[in-house]
Amino acid sequence: MTTEVIPVDPRSPDPDLVARAAAVLRAGGLVAFPTETVYGLGANAFDAAAVARIFAAKGRPTRNPLIVHVAEVADVVRVAAEWPEVARRLAERFWPGPLTFVLSKHPDLPNVVTAGGGTVAVRLPAHPIARALIRAARVPLAAPSANPSARISATTAEHVLRHLKGRIEQVIDGGPTAGGLESTVLDVTCSPPVCLRPGLASLAAIEAVVGKVLLPDSADAERASAGDDGPALRSPGLLARHYAPRVPLELAAGNAWQRVRDFLSAGVHVGWLSLDEVVPDGLPEVTVVQMPTEPMPYAARLYAALHALEAAGVDRIVVSLPPEGEAWLAIHDRLQRAAVRD
Ligand code: TXA
Ligand code: MG
Repeated sequence: MTTEVIPVDPRSPDPDLVARAAAVLRAGGLVAFPTETVYGLGANAFDAAAVARIFAAKGRPTRNPLIVHVAEVADVVRVAAEWPEVARRLAERFWPGPLTFVLSKHPDLPNVVTAGGGTVAVRLPAHPIARALIRAARVPLAAPSANPSARISATTAEHVLRHLKGRIEQVIDGGPTAGGLESTVLDVTCSPPVCLRPGLASLAAIEAVVGKVLLPDSADAERASAGDDGPALRSPGLLARHYAPRVPLELAAGNAWQRVRDFLSAGVHVGWLSLDEVVPDGLPEVTVVQMPTEPMPYAARLYAALHALEAAGVDRIVVSLPPEGEAWLAIHDRLQRAAVRD
């Protein structure tokens, strides 16, 4: 299959182009599209065969459930059996935007979307192309991040094509995504709510609306890393190794330059995500990406920087450890998972 690339201006999505992509979705096809976090790989959530193709295209384990994207709050009831008060209040503050709720599943939603589980993850994205596409398709879209399973998410159409070309019908190229990291996943089927994946919606801002939010207990995390044959995972985003580049990555807590130099003397082609260090001029065999020192621009840049180092053919990636603190939580989460070896 050839994958068609459709350039669309995110500031004013051309309705004819969006309608063409929506027609592909309605016919059971797969369309990758930009959201304000990362690119999603969409299918009609009510078409079980189309949703099954998402798992095949990504090489995603079928026990890892997908996020369903809606264009209006009123559409949540098409996919979820309940819309609890706490979700309603959070949606008022965070939707459209990078917060995903885990809710109890509507019986009519195909089981393949939720990996057979009784809950469904739902999000209302803020990106104009994503919303226009869901509206034009007139169905909720099941859409995981548009990358091979357990690898780095795509923040440009080019990243999507690198791995999914020939496996999906279309990619809408709306330019680089602004957020750069995935949404926060919050389970609101329990009280207090549990944050299953830190993301672009900050925990502190969520807690300001609904009070204390729990982090998953270590038992969950352990069960998640136990392997692929257990029961459906509570949140596979908890899998130890996830969001990882193909080359080994390590976090350097102290002197990152020292670590880079060790690799250089051993003849290793090393890539370095530096922070505020003074980077020596004229480094041989090293590819340096100087990362922003503020959390939001850092998040926006992270996956693109890792994709670039991968494309440059480095054998090893050293990452200068970013600062601690709530605003850096999702970044630390992704870097730690990326650093876990197969
Ligand atoms: O920003 C995002 O969330 C992007 C864009 C495309 O919306 N999507 C995304 O989807 O990151 P995905 O499939 O790569 O990650 C969804 C996360 C996974 O960790 C998955 O396990 C979890 O949400 N999840 C989905 N359904 C769930 C459910 N019913 N219960 C618990 N966790 C769920
Ligand atoms: Mg993903």
